[in-house]
Amino acid sequence: MAEKRSLWGSKVGFLLAAIGSAVGLGNIWRFSYMAYENGGGAFLIPYLVALLCAGIPLMILEYALGHREKASPPLAFARTHPLWEPLGWWMPVVAFFGINLFYAVVIGWCANYFCLSLNLGWGADTEAFFFKEFLQVSDSPFALAGIRWPILISTALAWLTCWSICYREVNHGIEKASMVFMPLLVVLTLILVGWSLRLDGAMDAIKEFYLKADLSKISLATAAGRKVWVAAFGQIFFTLSLGFGIMITYASYLPKKTDITGNALVTCFLNCLYSIIAGFAVFGTIGFMAKAKGVPFEEAIASGPGLAFVVYPEAINQLPGLNQLFGALFFLVLIVAGISSMISLTEAFSCSICDKFSISRKKAVTIICSIGLLGSLPFTTRAGLMILDIVDHFINNYALIVGGVVECVLVGWLFKSQVMRRHVNESGGLRLFPLWDICVRFITPVVLLVILIGALLTDFSAAYGGYPVKALLFIGGGILFFTWLGSFILSHVPWKPEKMKTEHKPDEEHLLT
Ligand code: PHE
Repeated sequence: MAEKRSLWGSKVGFLLAAIGSAVGLGNIWRFSYMAYENGGGAFLIPYLVALLCAGIPLMILEYALGHREKASPPLAFARTHPLWEPLGWWMPVVAFFGINLFYAVVIGWCANYFCLSLNLGWGADTEAFFFKEFLQVSDSPFALAGIRWPILISTALAWLTCWSICYREVNHGIEKASMVFMPLLVVLTLILVGWSLRLDGAMDAIKEFYLKADLSKISLATAAGRKVWVAAFGQIFFTLSLGFGIMITYASYLPKKTDITGNALVTCFLNCLYSIIAGFAVFGTIGFMAKAKGVPFEEAIASGPGLAFVVYPEAINQLPGLNQLFGALFFLVLIVAGISSMISLTEAFSCSICDKFSISRKKAVTIICSIGLLGSLPFTTRAGLMILDIVDHFINNYALIVGGVVECVLVGWLFKSQVMRRHVNESGGLRLFPLWDICVRFITPVVLLVILIGALLTDFSAAYGGYPVKALLFIGGGILFFTWLGSFILSHVPWKPEKMKTEHKPDEEHLLT
């Protein structure tokens, strides 16, 4: 019996799901801090250049590959050449084991903080509360020292929500959920931004630290300036969820006639617009807090989890009124943004498993979410924050970049980018110009390789985050090694012969001979 692949119910449904994957925790806490550190308004220049010459071309590439092959990443890669299959597995496997397991736990933290905000339960010293009372951080990444039950319970809820969405067919599950989540996210974010802008001191901080461009910081003539460019490219990849096979998977459910270029442009622009708008809320709120406490802005701002769980609660404490409502709003925004990214991470892996083992979506998603909950356990222990930090560092600096390079080589060189461009143009919508080929074959892979080498040099010159080298090798190296081993093993399970048949015409000879 021929299997029927699910399809999105509407173009808007697909777009909202793709944007939902892209817009995540990174748009809120990662973007703002990067902009602050890297020249304020001037950061937008490398950011937009990265968007144009790497982000958009790779988004088109992922959409085009998924749409053409109507397959998950491993199947799409295997059809090109069986030797490529392990790499096709590595992307969704890393997305799941390298990101999703801790992403669920961070959503769990947000859920806890959502409840805490209702009575400002974090008290006056928000830093001590987060690290000592809430996480109860242990001394080393190896000292798991017991599970934090409130975190485990909320993490389990995140997995349950994810399961209840993913186990339905995409047009009922992910599409319907995105139709609710995305408008909700926009409305909540706009309320938050409007509210933040009115706080005392907000506009001054925004003008001084967000909008004022310090062009000297992005000069390519200095080593520090070049680092900013590398950071901008890294951020673009992370924020657009590229390099993990997610967009390949989502595009595999698109109907034949689709405006691939147009959809990719809309996804990229709206995601980046969201980051820029959310930046106003972050800079405004921290500016207000710095003024209220009489400390310099530079001292008030923090990166990553510190921003959401230490600085924001502190700012919420200082608000003149409706503190609880503001807090609940902020953490709800994080939860909604997080869940819509989490379902995409789960979907990429479960679609690959369904393709390979020909099992039902319900079965695959149930097994995968159960494994996910178990795999999240180490992150819910007292060493969770440290393990998370190390895994995140290695995945973002290596796996994501390798994923991007592999895609460029596969589609740009092995597949011949012209064939893929012809496919995009034949599918309808906006025309794709040969400039795209140049980006995919040369610019994007070269920039990614430069980033990769830069990351290697930095890691070899000093142990990341001051962690013991043993911990970095065991946890960071371990996650890279085991995801690769798993991918290798999965790729050796044989495909059902009918899976290898593609729908496109045989005259489309795409492999270099
Ligand atoms: N793009 C998401 C963010 O900005 C993170 C993410 C990365 C989600 C990779 C899925 C895959 O937070």
